[in-house]
Amino acid sequence: MKKTFSGVQPSGELHLGNYLGAIKNWVSMQDEYDATFCIVDLHAITVSQNPEELRRHILDVTKAYIALGIDPDKSNIFVQSDVSAHAELCWLLNCTVARMGDMEKMTQFKDKSGKDGSERASVGLFDYPVLMAADILLYDTDVVPVGEDQVQHVELTRTLARRFNKIFGDTFIVPDVKLNKEGKRVMGLDDPTKKMSKSATSEYNYITLMDSADIVSKKIRKAVTDSGSEIVYSDDKPALKNLINIYSLLSNKSTDDIENDYVGKGYGDFKDGLTDVIVNFLTPFQEKINSISDDKVKEVLNEGAQKAGKQAEQKMQEVKEKIGFVV
Ligand code: TYM
Repeated sequence: MKKTFSGVQPSGELHLGNYLGAIKNWVSMQDEYDATFCIVDLHAITVSQNPEELRRHILDVTKAYIALGIDPDKSNIFVQSDVSAHAELCWLLNCTVARMGDMEKMTQFKDKSGKDGSERASVGLFDYPVLMAADILLYDTDVVPVGEDQVQHVELTRTLARRFNKIFGDTFIVPDVKLNKEGKRVMGLDDPTKKMSKSATSEYNYITLMDSADIVSKKIRKAVTDSGSEIVYSDDKPALKNLINIYSLLSNKSTDDIENDYVGKGYGDFKDGLTDVIVNFLTPFQEKINSISDDKVKEVLNEGAQKAGKQAEQKMQEVKEKIGFVV
């Protein structure tokens, strides 16, 4: 069975971009793949976090995975910091195959450190893609389902795996990326030229999975639209195209059918319909998440860490031996 691995940072509530770009794919992949889904807390601390909030977010993101359809009986769910091999392999890759030249090309570091300048950014933020490569390579991953913003990091992972294999002999699988055609880049509701992001300056940029019906309705009403009044799916209308994509992915209706439903109607009707579609998706999700206890989550994570730990330990032995450590 082929293996898949992916993760989300517990740096706040998840938004529709996280679900439509990544987690929705995970749910449909878990029957076909030996699947591992991680809550990447070591990545989250590359920017400063409040300890109490971080602890809460780790449990909440785990609950969200389960409430969105990741079944702990099928897929392994665990927290990155519970398996020390992630940080350890990151260091080994840092020293053996990751080059400054590779890292300086990473656009996310430039974006994330851009606001305050790289002088104040953590070294961890710079090294973040190597930690991500370690996550993926530890588990002999064949396929990595992510949104488009992570593609560059998976490409780096491929480069590091190939380079390591060349120097030390076959050790790592070179993984492929898997994108969701329409969901790979959900754009901001307030600016269709930028991706939906929790770090956006305005909360009108995103819809979180915990937003109430009232908030969803307010945010959709304020969402920017394009000139003209027809509901058409076209590259000339990037704001509307993004909204129709969200509508389509959450309702499983084709974009053609959505266009047909709104012939002769305007943005007001369309936005009411979109609000209903989002609320109909979020309401059962929120009920489910609220029914999962912290204890249940901790149980899932304990089991997950044990299973992942065993796999990772085996890989680490192989890597250490190849590098020349006495094992
Ligand atoms: P993170 O936590 O920023 O995002 C989690 C996932 O959500 C996707 N995503 C989006 N997809 C479509 N449209 C958007 N607007 C949008 N915003 C976010 C991301 O592409 C991602 O798939 N470094 C990763 C986490 C990570 C990881 C890994 C992923 C760590 N190790 C190993 C895969 C494999 C990150 O920060 O994702």
